[in-house]
Amino acid sequence: MNEILKAIKESSIKISELLKDADFGYTSHTNHTGDTQLKLDVRSDELITEIFSGVKSVKALISEEKDEALSLNEDADFIVAYDPLDGSSLVDVNFAVGSIFGIYKNKVSAKNLVASAYAVYGPRLELVICGDKPILYRYKNGEFVAVKELKLNEKGKLNATGASQWGWSKEHRKFIKSLFDEKYRLRYSGAMVADLHQILLKGGGLFSYPATTDAPNGKLRVTFEVLPFAYIYEKAGGATTDGKNSSLLELEVKQIHATTPCYFGSKYEISKLLGEKCE
Ligand code: AHG
Ligand code: MN
Ligand code: MN
Repeated sequence: MNEILKAIKESSIKISELLKDADFGYTSHTNHTGDTQLKLDVRSDELITEIFSGVKSVKALISEEKDEALSLNEDADFIVAYDPLDGSSLVDVNFAVGSIFGIYKNKVSAKNLVASAYAVYGPRLELVICGDKPILYRYKNGEFVAVKELKLNEKGKLNATGASQWGWSKEHRKFIKSLFDEKYRLRYSGAMVADLHQILLKGGGLFSYPATTDAPNGKLRVTFEVLPFAYIYEKAGGATTDGKNSSLLELEVKQIHATTPCYFGSKYEISKLLGEKCE
């Protein structure tokens, strides 16, 4: 596990350097989801692949930018699933973006997730690593320094609502409005790493990316976006749901690029959502 965490640290340092002066253009390729890949998406993926190719404890890599899993060491225990650059379309407007990593033991399923991590490329380089608990690290003078454990309050004040409202269900619309009526503030940048990081650091709130009429399974990807963050939010004392199950960590992984509706929050917002569904 230590060599995996070392590789995550090295990857995030390299990607943060790449973002400083790289070519922001698009490639002529689309990824599995159908997004046109930016040169930065591809380069970040290559950097992570290069770094992990020397890590003996990793059996395979699963990436947003690779159609198939990449086998590395057949007899190794861990599978690392990652989104090399989350929010990449925001790089040209100079918003914070990130990388997400889920570490699975033996098999890619929610129950086999043993740790997760994400890097935030903002004014500072920060990393959150979560085994038993989420710890925030800041990159300073060439090394990551532990800052604090992240804990969510019982209830928050922020409401980060994804997707086009045009496609929201009546139920979702009503729920989001009810939070604004409780004085929640809108915070949404379009990079889930930055939006979920803000909610974690400010102590709570809700991030949602619901099912929509044109995307009934939502947009965000289970193996390398949703499960790693669900793991961190629940270890931070928060809660998660797909709108039906009482935790995103109950989801079955059907295929490596599958998507799901998702809600991450403090306990109050998630139980309010699930409670309202039962009424
Ligand atoms: P990626 O850049 O890896 O494709 O991910 C972008 C995702 C996520 O970070 C963000 O929350 C969401 O897309 C934004 O989508 P909408 O603009 O539809 O809200
Ligand atoms: Mn992403
Ligand atoms: Mn991405």
